[in-house]
Amino acid sequence: MNRLVNTRFIQKAGYATKPLLPNKTIKTLLKEDTQQVSVRGWVRSVRKQKQVSFATVNDGSTLKGIQAILNEKDAQLLTTGTCVELQGSLIKSPGKEQTKELQVNGIKVLGECDSTYPLQKKRHTNEFLRSIGHLRMRGNTGSAVLRVRNAASEGIRDFFREQEFILTNTPILTSHDCEGGGEVFKITPVDSKEPTEFFKKPVYLTVSGQLHAEIMASAMSRVYTFGPTFRAEESLTSRHLAEFWMLEAEMAFIDDMAPLLDVTEGSVQQTTRYVMDQCSEDLAFFNQWVDKSLLERLQKSVDKPFVRMSYTEAIDVLQKVQDKEKNKFRYPTTWGSSLQSEHERYLASEYCQQPVFVTDYPSELKPFYMRANEDGKTVGCFDLLLPGIGELVGGSMREERYSILEQKMKDAKMNMEDYQWYLDLRKYGSAPHGGYGIGFERLLLWLTGLENVREVIPMPRWVGSCKY
Ligand code: 4AD
Repeated sequence: MNRLVNTRFIQKAGYATKPLLPNKTIKTLLKEDTQQVSVRGWVRSVRKQKQVSFATVNDGSTLKGIQAILNEKDAQLLTTGTCVELQGSLIKSPGKEQTKELQVNGIKVLGECDSTYPLQKKRHTNEFLRSIGHLRMRGNTGSAVLRVRNAASEGIRDFFREQEFILTNTPILTSHDCEGGGEVFKITPVDSKEPTEFFKKPVYLTVSGQLHAEIMASAMSRVYTFGPTFRAEESLTSRHLAEFWMLEAEMAFIDDMAPLLDVTEGSVQQTTRYVMDQCSEDLAFFNQWVDKSLLERLQKSVDKPFVRMSYTEAIDVLQKVQDKEKNKFRYPTTWGSSLQSEHERYLASEYCQQPVFVTDYPSELKPFYMRANEDGKTVGCFDLLLPGIGELVGGSMREERYSILEQKMKDAKMNMEDYQWYLDLRKYGSAPHGGYGIGFERLLLWLTGLENVREVIPMPRWVGSCKY
């Protein structure tokens, strides 16, 4: 008994657990020198020839999977989609596509695949693949997206750990509408007679974990949270989902915007580098089939610092273009008006051709919690705009001065009683602080070159659609 406890302790202390599952992934098998192997996965394609047949089997661990060489009889057992276990020897491949291939000598069908299987070895449209969302990760794009998604969250986690942030979790149910946009989903039990019955007050799905992250930053200094976010936005654009994932960081003891922008830039660049390193095969695939400028664009974004300009400078740039080309924009470019996506696109894709931070927007355009600047007209905030994508990140310094914040909340006609705790944080040892939120699906558009956020989340939800 004692010995058992000891071994466990040693394993834990070394942080290395030996592989616990009996089978190895294709990714590991292809890296090792083992010759006699057993591979489990799903058949992607079968090519039956007279002498010898070929099948590609993939378990999701790599883009290409493994090429298996079988005899005609064994090949009869396999159709695209079948779940199989293949035994055989891994040998050097004469082909150009792969370094090793599997010479099969034993085959076991784990799950047969009906002939109606919709994923055949040809290019399908993204719309079609989305309509078979329960199977789309069995294809190249769907599985590459999931690997990139995984690597991006690992990269983000590494970045924040190295910068001494701690991961926290903010609630999903909340009585607050952080962004003040009113785009909240209300929560009530199915058989409630009235919407406030359960919690005795209206409760919503969170639109941002920020206010709660501020609570934690007020004690732990540097925190981040990564969770689902819900917005009842009726927009059908390729950038909006009703359920998306947001990475939110909040840090105390920063005095101005510069370190906030540094951390934002660092988190995006380091995550990009990590994904480029870990998913080179997947990115090469996206570069070939989805966006031929992907790799070059990503490399440029990690080599050079992001551009920084104020809202006032941005308006200036836009007005100059407008003066030259009268019909360049549909919406006005006067100081005080919102930047529309056409403006954001111009700034990032054409003018800077690099990610660009636009800072210090007019206070009227932004939520109550953003810190008022000295000029009395603008707030210490920023949007990070990316070429081809538009807004990826929104963030700001938070108003940490009690009386100024109280006044802003009154002006915004907020229920002061409900938000007294938020004011309290400014009463009990207020710290200068700020934070930001990265839209994770938009980051994945940037990393894959795909055009629609519905392609980069496993089960997309948007107005009018909630399948699976
Ligand atoms: O700019 P937003 O609204 O910022 C906040 O919610 C802040 N409270 C975050 C913070 O400071 N902690 O949202 C942040 C990002 C946007 O820049 C965008 O990338 C993404 O979230 N986003 C969406 N992504 C997909 N679908 C939607 N409907 C989105 N709405 C925002």
